[in-house]
Amino acid sequence: MKKAFITGINGQDGSYLTEYLLGLGYEVHGIVRRNSVPEHQQSRIELARENLHVSYGDLLDTSGLYKLLSNIQPDEIYNLAAQSHVRISFDVPQFTAQTNALGALNLLEAYRNSCPQAKYYQASSSEMFGTSVESDNYQRETTPLKPTSPYGCAKVFAYNITRNYRKSYNLHAVNGILFNHESPRRGSNFVTNKVVKAAVLIKKGKADILELGNMDAYRDWGHSKDYVRAMHMIINHDIADDFVVATGESHSVREMTEYVFSKLDMNYKDYVVQNPKFLRPEELPYLRGDSSRLRKTFNWTPEYTFESLMDEMIEFWMQQIK
Ligand code: GDD
Repeated sequence: MKKAFITGINGQDGSYLTEYLLGLGYEVHGIVRRNSVPEHQQSRIELARENLHVSYGDLLDTSGLYKLLSNIQPDEIYNLAAQSHVRISFDVPQFTAQTNALGALNLLEAYRNSCPQAKYYQASSSEMFGTSVESDNYQRETTPLKPTSPYGCAKVFAYNITRNYRKSYNLHAVNGILFNHESPRRGSNFVTNKVVKAAVLIKKGKADILELGNMDAYRDWGHSKDYVRAMHMIINHDIADDFVVATGESHSVREMTEYVFSKLDMNYKDYVVQNPKFLRPEELPYLRGDSSRLRKTFNWTPEYTFESLMDEMIEFWMQQIK
């Protein structure tokens, strides 16, 4: 039985990855941070499951990471834990850097010293590209990194230190560079789920308006379930390498909002107002990923389209809000 160790196991991706790996017959171990409301730790994942073992842990607690990895001796390590909200990274830049940058280094150190035969996956992000776009309007593995947020800067460090450890210590350490990926499990302060939840509340007469920031940013939105399959393919490639994971389709926040409201027979213009509170000091205007290397190497294709992703989220909130 293969063993996986996942940081961020109760996040959107951690929960889907856990379900995917358990389905493949893995024994899954994960860490959660201590929270004063323990119920929050299982809001996305049923913790009492066969072959699933969850412990308290934190990327900033290196000795705890070392102890866990030494005892578990996993075959695969997935570093999915992070302060994952880009705008909030402007409010808590140092915490974001400590967790997303130094946290990755802490985990790499624990891995190198306790189970160097394992494979390591770093959750890298398209936010690292920042303002960089190729002349054909895509970002790919070779596109320069010009981040526009403390979150993006911290992720660039984690990406580079993963590559550095791979070369320096001959470790099977890889990066998946994931473009935005959503699902009903997405936190409701990220824009897709925020829009869907608010639109459903308005539809059901429980809210009047939706306040947003910049509606003219473009994102390449895929489904988290498709992306965790890609993570497993990337970590298990015979050569340790880095891959972009994306749909190749880009929509503006405005287009996404229009789609959601029109699905519910409403016009977004009647309900959406801008609140400067949701603008970012520096914005990343455009993302569209070229994942041809991933598709060619592993025959990966996403099962969800932009429309079926948004429809699933709408359906989820229609069921939730009675
Ligand atoms: N969150 C949020 N809230 N975003 C808004 C709002 C709002 O009210 N109004 C407009 N936006 C715009 C943001 O300015 C941004 O351009 C876009 O919607 C997407 O914002 P998010 O959904 O918060 O995601 P993100 O692109 O900043 O970051 C996500 O994707 C990254 C991959 O590129 C996160 O999941 C990161 O963790 C991930 O690495």
